[in-house]
Amino acid sequence: MREIKWGIIGTGSIASKFARALNSMKDTKLVGVASRNINKAKEFSEKFQVEKAYGSYEDLVKDEEIDVIYIGTPHTEHKANAELCIKNGKAVLCEKPFTVNVADSEYLISLAKDHKVFIMEAMWTKFLPVTIKVKQWIKDGRIGKVRHFRISFGYSSPFDPNNRLYNPDLAGGALLDVGVYPITYVVHMMDCLPDKIISSAEFGQTQVDEQNIIIMKYKDGVLADLSSSVAIETGYDAVIIGEEGKLVVPKFWSAEEAYLYDSKNQLVEAYNEPHHENGYEYEAYEVNRCLRENMLESDKLPLKDTLDIMRIMDQIRSEWGLVYPQE
Ligand SMILES: NC(=O)c1ccc[n+]([C@@H]2O[C@H](COP(=O)([O-])OP(=O)(O)OC[C@H]3O[C@@H](n4cnc5c(N)ncnc54)[C@H](OP(=O)(O)O)[C@@H]3O)[C@@H](O)[C@H]2O)c1
Repeated sequence: MREIKWGIIGTGSIASKFARALNSMKDTKLVGVASRNINKAKEFSEKFQVEKAYGSYEDLVKDEEIDVIYIGTPHTEHKANAELCIKNGKAVLCEKPFTVNVADSEYLISLAKDHKVFIMEAMWTKFLPVTIKVKQWIKDGRIGKVRHFRISFGYSSPFDPNNRLYNPDLAGGALLDVGVYPITYVVHMMDCLPDKIISSAEFGQTQVDEQNIIIMKYKDGVLADLSSSVAIETGYDAVIIGEEGKLVVPKFWSAEEAYLYDSKNQLVEAYNEPHHENGYEYEAYEVNRCLRENMLESDKLPLKDTLDIMRIMDQIRSEWGLVYPQE
């Protein structure tokens, strides 16, 4: 199989995890890493056995050996970083949220089309075997007609106005950081968009949403009760309730297990699928597949789906009046 050669932009926490995932894969090589600081790039390259360390993102995208670049920078940087990759003919896997708003996403997608370059949002949850299993259980009618989703992704990160989670200049707040997961999960499981969205957020000192609640309503009697936070631990599970049973997915966004219960709350089936490495390998397998098949877009995570989610988040933010300084 053709070896796919990767580069990484950014040397933060998620870039490290993604590097580990790439290093665990066959026919895949992590060729280069770029940081704004050459020392950080060298440190990262030593830690993850990356051949080339670059002190600027501009240098990495000029590396002719590299096929595809993973972008692991704060939300506000995704647009410029992806633009740089596309204009230099590099395929892109860009962290979630794809960009800060839908206009920037549309811009990147159109640029990628013009340059005939592959691009995909790194919404890794969609590629996890457990997510695929849960969707199959729903399709097979194992819990009857789905009526209710209850999903939370809220963790407690100490307040620090400079941290990307709280800093408005880096598009901080719970919605873009973790709220994107429950929204994506429901739309993915339903295979369609909600008809109505009601939401509320609590802003902290830095005027970004430290916690929020979102209700998505579908015409045919389905309600989704979603919450997310970067300031308090609100839970990590997805519960999907149907007329004949329910599904429970612990840590749904990175799930390694899921449980199917009947309407009497008796466990009917458990599904366990430990990650091969740390879970990020599944999205990377998909990118490799697409590149080997000369695809410009994944049919498992089409760009339209990314735009749909970005549009929902724009709508929610506009109702809250949350506009980031660079918008
Ligand atoms: N898929 C997941 O499970 C997951 C988990 C966590 C985060 N994420 C996403 O991944 C992205 C990065 O998150 P992270 O937690 O890894 O962040 P992080 O630890 O703060 O790392 C971000 C990296 O981006 C680079 N960077 C470029 N411009 C920057 C700027 N203006 N300010 C700060 N850093 C800048 C830095 O690398 P250099 O200094 O080396 O250039 C930094 O190390 C975000 O989009 C986030 O939503 C995804």
